[in-house]
Amino acid sequence: MTELAQVVRAAAGAVIDPELRRPLADLGMIGEVWVEGSAARIQLKLTIAGCPAAQTIEADVRAAASGVSGVDSVEVDVTVMTAEERAEMLARLRPEGAKHNPFTADALTRVIAITSGKGGVGKSSVTANLACALSLAGYRVGILDADVHGYSIPALMGLAPEGIPVRPTRLDDMIVPPVGHDVKVISIGMFVEDQATAVAWRGPMLQRTISQFLTDVYFGDLDFLLLDLPPGTGDVAITVGQLLPHSDVLIVTTPQPAAAGVAIRAGMLARQTGQRVIGVVENMSAMTSPDGRTIDLFGTGGAQAVAEGLSGDKTVPVLGQIPLSIGLRVGGDTGVPVVVHDPSNPAALALTALAHQIATSGPSRAGKSLGLSPR
Ligand SMILES: Nc1ncnc2c1ncn2[C@@H]1O[C@H](COP(=O)(O)OP(=O)(O)OP(=O)(O)O)[C@@H](O)[C@H]1O
Ligand SMILES: [Mg+2]
Repeated sequence: MTELAQVVRAAAGAVIDPELRRPLADLGMIGEVWVEGSAARIQLKLTIAGCPAAQTIEADVRAAASGVSGVDSVEVDVTVMTAEERAEMLARLRPEGAKHNPFTADALTRVIAITSGKGGVGKSSVTANLACALSLAGYRVGILDADVHGYSIPALMGLAPEGIPVRPTRLDDMIVPPVGHDVKVISIGMFVEDQATAVAWRGPMLQRTISQFLTDVYFGDLDFLLLDLPPGTGDVAITVGQLLPHSDVLIVTTPQPAAAGVAIRAGMLARQTGQRVIGVVENMSAMTSPDGRTIDLFGTGGAQAVAEGLSGDKTVPVLGQIPLSIGLRVGGDTGVPVVVHDPSNPAALALTALAHQIATSGPSRAGKSLGLSPR
């Protein structure tokens, strides 16, 4: 290969695959590269036929090669990997092999389950915003939407155009999570054929699905995996506790003291499986109206009551108070979380501070590095 061809190959190979988040060279996606005079021709091997990211990848490769000095024209020959090439790539991505849960106790990823006693207190909104805030701070983040019956994460993360969650790409037995706001997202909603029908699953099926999400979804290296749980102490919460006993648990509650009892029970359940309750978030807290009045629609004291109820030998802190916020609600409705679309909104500031607190106050696991160094 000529020297120029090598430079072109390196430039094309450095392009990042938008779904797998790895350089094309590492994925074996750059085939032959020819340069004649100032005309470059690059063979691009897509992982599968009909790859949804094909156009983006091709354009990125073209742009990268065009940027090489001495190159005036670029031609991209798009082909598809052979089954053997794809198997080789998958083996490289998952050296431990398929059917392996990478989120073990000694893994570098911090797993945080977001839970609550009551429904509708803002778990999913907090999860989506926390994920975006951590990602904006430079961490690699994934969300596993474990609310199998009431999934809402795809829409909150802008991954449900016209209300229909996007379909993940499948590479043989590996599932590639769609990326929204730089966060890798997987949800049962992405696999449901008919969005009008309810997912009517019981224990074993729920367990199998969540287990499959952990083994078959390629999250790659993550600093944080956030789990959005359904409310309460049902099958999903128990399954998550069993599959991820080392995960941290964040409890979301409203300021209403009456809801504290059920939130405390959710925290106690998590502890029974060995999970660690890292703190309580109070959502829908008092907001300040434009004329400066404080409106505490849902009262006060709820989070404090939950934190006290769960504190024993170790104190469980209230990690943050997220005010009632039109911006937060609109962010949910439009698929652009408030920390992304309006970072100076009071709710966004509170959520960003919460993300910072969680990232910097992580419980160290037996002296192991948590892998929290920003990208
Ligand atoms: N701080 C807030 N200010 C205004 N609206 C909020 C706030 N937090 C959440 N909401 C709104 O309240 C509703 C419920 O929030 P969300 O879906 O996040 O709760 P949830 O606990 O995940 O619910 P479920 O139990 O059904 O899963 C949503 O419409 C959301 O936009
Ligand atoms: Mg929810």
